[in-house]
Amino acid sequence: MSDTLSIALVGLGGYAQCYANELFDNAANNNAQFTAVIDPLAKKSDLYSRVIDANIPIFDSLEEFYQTQSADLVCIASPITFHREQAILAVQNGSSVLCEKPAAATLEDAQAMYDAQNETGKFIAIGYQLSYHSVTHKLKADINSGKFGQVNSMTVLTHWPRTHSYYNRASWAGAKYSNGQAVFDSPLNNATAHYLHNAFYLLGDTAHSSAKPKSLIAETYRANNIENFDTVAVHAKTESNVDLHFYASHATDSQIGPIMTMNCEDSRIVSTPSSYNSSYIAYMNNGEEHHYQLDPDESYMKKIWDCVDAIRTGARPLCDIEAALSHSMAVSAAQRSCEIVDFPEELVEHIPKENDDILTAVPTLGELLVQCAAAGKLPADFDIEWAAKSKTITF
Ligand SMILES: NC(=O)c1ccc[n+]([C@@H]2O[C@H](COP(=O)([O-])OP(=O)(O)OC[C@H]3O[C@@H](n4cnc5c(N)ncnc54)[C@H](O)[C@@H]3O)[C@@H](O)[C@H]2O)c1
Repeated sequence: MSDTLSIALVGLGGYAQCYANELFDNAANNNAQFTAVIDPLAKKSDLYSRVIDANIPIFDSLEEFYQTQSADLVCIASPITFHREQAILAVQNGSSVLCEKPAAATLEDAQAMYDAQNETGKFIAIGYQLSYHSVTHKLKADINSGKFGQVNSMTVLTHWPRTHSYYNRASWAGAKYSNGQAVFDSPLNNATAHYLHNAFYLLGDTAHSSAKPKSLIAETYRANNIENFDTVAVHAKTESNVDLHFYASHATDSQIGPIMTMNCEDSRIVSTPSSYNSSYIAYMNNGEEHHYQLDPDESYMKKIWDCVDAIRTGARPLCDIEAALSHSMAVSAAQRSCEIVDFPEELVEHIPKENDDILTAVPTLGELLVQCAAAGKLPADFDIEWAAKSKTITF
């Protein structure tokens, strides 16, 4: 390997633009070079002419790329259905990988990526950016040092209303399958995936690992006209017996969170509301407070340069596919734990929004999920006619 590391980018539009801009701006500062783009639709990207002007070659597929090229690091920011195939092909061709979240559409796909990482010895890191922030690691180190006492439970609550334009933006939005391929798009696998992953990651007993679920029960509900669910309540138990309660909905009529609360023997740790669950205050039972602030100078794209460092030093990346597997296990179990229940029509409202958009929402849902979170319960634990009991999945 030469001193300058080569980085190829899969995808050039959508979120891949954040990667491309970061590579244009900071590759040289990190002794790396942005050497190729792989995207069959690259011409549609606003960055296409910048790539051409920089003499960076563009390939239609990774197979075509590897016929003549190689890369030390391949960043994959293509749609989720391609992650498995592209990540495995890259490590089999000698590249390390930074693949966007979620790792894959199904647990089987994520497991295949994990196997490929082990077989090739090249890492597959997953781009959950919270896992690369130093604030996450400061808090995690203090949790693992026993500073807060034993962790008993953790609750994450996110109400993020999404309008029809969100669900109409792509054929796979809200779908289980798209063009015959699994996507399992849902709040768990998409908009709030970072927070579900981060919950397992903060509970991991080493800097690089996530706690594993040993059982999970979930209820899934739907107000929108979609194949998969828009509302989910999860109760997972980790292998160390921490109760993880996770509530997320795109069908509330107002926005909350994500709010994370962790109950420990000697303290209560909460995320501060304005910071997307990435700054925290620990309230100790003895009255002390410890503040964990997100470093404003740390870029959300730091993950690229952490992976570059991991290649240089041979260290395990901060969030590899093994650390991301807990999220995939939880999503898979939530899909299997229950049937999706439609909210009764009389509870659903279609609320006009700007630009002729419409929010389909259940106005009473927000308060119910807040009550569930406060009690550590699922909707069916209350006396609610439409709520359906589900079954516990054990791993
Ligand atoms: N980390 C974050 O905060 C964050 C934010 C947004 C999206 N994402 C993730 O980024 C990934 C991409 O999401 P998106 O919304 O930008 O998707 P998108 O549908 O906008 O596609 C991104 C790019 O991939 C290209 N592409 C399509 N098929 C391809 C193929 N076979 N090979 C190579 N490139 C291909 C498209 O042309 C496009 O340029 C997803 O995994 C998503 O979850 C992460």
